[in-house]
Amino acid sequence: MKPEYGNNFLLAFDYKLPPLSKPVNRILFIHSSRTDQSFLSFRRIAQLYPDAEFFILKGNGVEFPHYDLKNVKEITFDDDRLPPDFHQSGNGQFLKSANIDLVFFCANYDIRLPSPDDAIKLNYNNILRFVDTIGLYDWTCIVDNQFCIYYPHQIEITRTEKSWKIGGYNLELPHTMLSLEEKQTLFELAANGASCGVIVNIGVYLGGSSIILAKASKSKNREKVHSFDLKINEKSQDFYSKNNVADWIIPQESDSVEAAKIWLDQGSNPIRLLLIDGDHSFEGAKNDIVHWTKSLAPGGVIAVHDYGNVSAGTKYSEVVQAVYETILSCDEFHDFKRVDTLFFARKK
Ligand SMILES: C[S@@+](CC[C@H](N)C(=O)[O-])C[C@H]1O[C@@H](n2cnc3c(N)ncnc32)[C@H](O)[C@@H]1O
Repeated sequence: MKPEYGNNFLLAFDYKLPPLSKPVNRILFIHSSRTDQSFLSFRRIAQLYPDAEFFILKGNGVEFPHYDLKNVKEITFDDDRLPPDFHQSGNGQFLKSANIDLVFFCANYDIRLPSPDDAIKLNYNNILRFVDTIGLYDWTCIVDNQFCIYYPHQIEITRTEKSWKIGGYNLELPHTMLSLEEKQTLFELAANGASCGVIVNIGVYLGGSSIILAKASKSKNREKVHSFDLKINEKSQDFYSKNNVADWIIPQESDSVEAAKIWLDQGSNPIRLLLIDGDHSFEGAKNDIVHWTKSLAPGGVIAVHDYGNVSAGTKYSEVVQAVYETILSCDEFHDFKRVDTLFFARKK
């Protein structure tokens, strides 16, 4: 089986993991949710990896089915929840040295729904910290109660208004789906990226990405940010002012493809940095890439958000196909890079 990206992992055709750079020989399953959710998930994982060796980490006293698997080892802890210092225990140390390739645990809620109390951190921080301590954070899959797979970095993202320090500034960002590393990378590119030209941001929402790009570019007295969205949210203007970038963002209410055609027809400025985060359907992402990159300067960078983001009910996986057809499979671009779910390429 060749794992790739996908959605609901109970559906054979729909379940995909990111391409793994290693074979999956040992799997750790952490029992962390309702037993029916855990059992169903474990059974499915056992089906997907029939030859793997399994470690089940669970509270003492929980009866866990082995589903006829030959190679299952149970590791227990003496509590309802995985203790915060578990990594220091003999069992924790054992797991650290067990050469585990992949970790799964279940989160007992629908990850797609906004969670004001940051449910993942509130309820599962002990597990996230444990997998981090034993070096398996990047190899951990979270199964939600819709049986959709997520990766920790997709969930540990800023979902609320938060202040964020970067480059000596304290930004008051609105809700944005950009992860910490994605924000840092965009800031760095907008401040110090190669080539000349303006910055264009397709898909504004409350203004998070535009503020980051504008603050960075303004800090180096570089080009302004042109931000396009079908609908300008009034709140975004307040955030621009709060962050002192209202003079560095040129908002425009428009369909992005229409705007791209006008931009080209009018011979507007070349673009040195282009962030695409608007219509996430295959056609939408593809059209944005095709039309806007016509105005991208040589050496300029295109960034496409939600590349490989795994969320049931969304079209994010279509972004991957659009990037493949318009960028990866043609000669015009090089220098490919990926930071979390932000894809980057440079125009030759
Ligand atoms: C995921 S949000 C953008 C998030 C933003 N980049 C941030 O960092 O918070 C997507 C936005 O794209 C806009 N959008 C969708 N289709 C569009 C189109 N055809 N043209 C312009 N904007 C579009 C939506 O209105 C929405 O505000």
